[in-house]
Amino acid sequence: MTITNDIKYVGVNDHEVDLFEGQYIVPNGMAYNSYVIMDEKIAVMDTVDERFAGEWLANIKNVLGDKTPDYLIIQHMEPDHSANIKAFLEVYPEAAVVGNAKTFTMMDQFYKVDESVNRLTVTDKETLSLGAHTLTFVFAPMVHWPEVMVTYDSTDKVLFSADGFGKFGALDVEEDWDCEARRYYFGIVGKYGLQVQKLLKVAATLDIQTICPLHGPILKEDLGHYIEKYDIWSSYRPENKGVFIAYASVYGHTKAAAELLAAKLEEKGCEKVAIADLAREDMAECVEDAFRYDRLVLASVTYNGDIFPCMKTFIEGLVERNYQNRTVAFVENGTWGPMAKKVMSGMFEKSKNITFTEESVTVRSALNEDSEAAIERLAEELCR
Ligand code: FEO
Repeated sequence: MTITNDIKYVGVNDHEVDLFEGQYIVPNGMAYNSYVIMDEKIAVMDTVDERFAGEWLANIKNVLGDKTPDYLIIQHMEPDHSANIKAFLEVYPEAAVVGNAKTFTMMDQFYKVDESVNRLTVTDKETLSLGAHTLTFVFAPMVHWPEVMVTYDSTDKVLFSADGFGKFGALDVEEDWDCEARRYYFGIVGKYGLQVQKLLKVAATLDIQTICPLHGPILKEDLGHYIEKYDIWSSYRPENKGVFIAYASVYGHTKAAAELLAAKLEEKGCEKVAIADLAREDMAECVEDAFRYDRLVLASVTYNGDIFPCMKTFIEGLVERNYQNRTVAFVENGTWGPMAKKVMSGMFEKSKNITFTEESVTVRSALNEDSEAAIERLAEELCR
């Protein structure tokens, strides 16, 4: 795949991965992107997952022919991108590995790379000339690890964006960008909105015509769309108006309350109502929806004087990603000592800009007149 005259794609598609990064289901697989920049000096951008060493090296060989690369630029040391540094150096021992001080600390920790290997340590905003192409390294700490840097090629106006603007899904599967990019963003980088905002500010000063991320498709058209999404997500602004109802139910009574609330919201013309069973749906998808909409309803049974485990995991997933700027409502169920609302609201104690609704719903075992009336009032408040 040709990105520009001089920049070629040498990445791979992974349809065998069971859980990406040990936890994310990826029904359409995953792409580990890598690129070659052909110039007087030749640079390879990042490696790929360990299992694809042979395919990746063959892709490079296919582009280079008898030429040899001068640089292997490591933008991110997470092993889905760095696992083949040694395999690369076995084939191209003369190439210099380019990284920053943190890159090399991690490289030695992970791979014990021989001291004789050429290492070129760069600093923030340092440039590297390949001939016609000048690369500028921009440090982007915590997007997604501390050593991350992105690389701007001012000749072809390409931003190599590391994990930024990435998405789940292999490149040989057609699917909507927003949905799987959003699930990827909130799952993987969601906690680091501030750092993504800093990177977007630097990006705004550059003339970018192509974005080459480490996962997902190469972005060439309508870049404003992708940058706007990243701006919304990283500033923790809701993307859409709507209510997301996440429930944890044991015998179906809390589920019935959640579904009744959803029906009432729809009846009242709420812009969008999404509902999910936390015990059965993909947790990353649920986290994504919580960030997508401006209102969230948490409905849980009381369990061991606490809340149901999947609800706990869900709220933890929100709080650790700095969930904020949203309205949150509670539906609790308890047969003898309902505790869920107290526990759930307490979990947001340190969160910023969370508004709890005045109304909440307590179900005693199963819905009755009182709890149905409370659901009606909550639906009204949420639609106001
Ligand atoms: Fe794709 Fe943070 O690794």
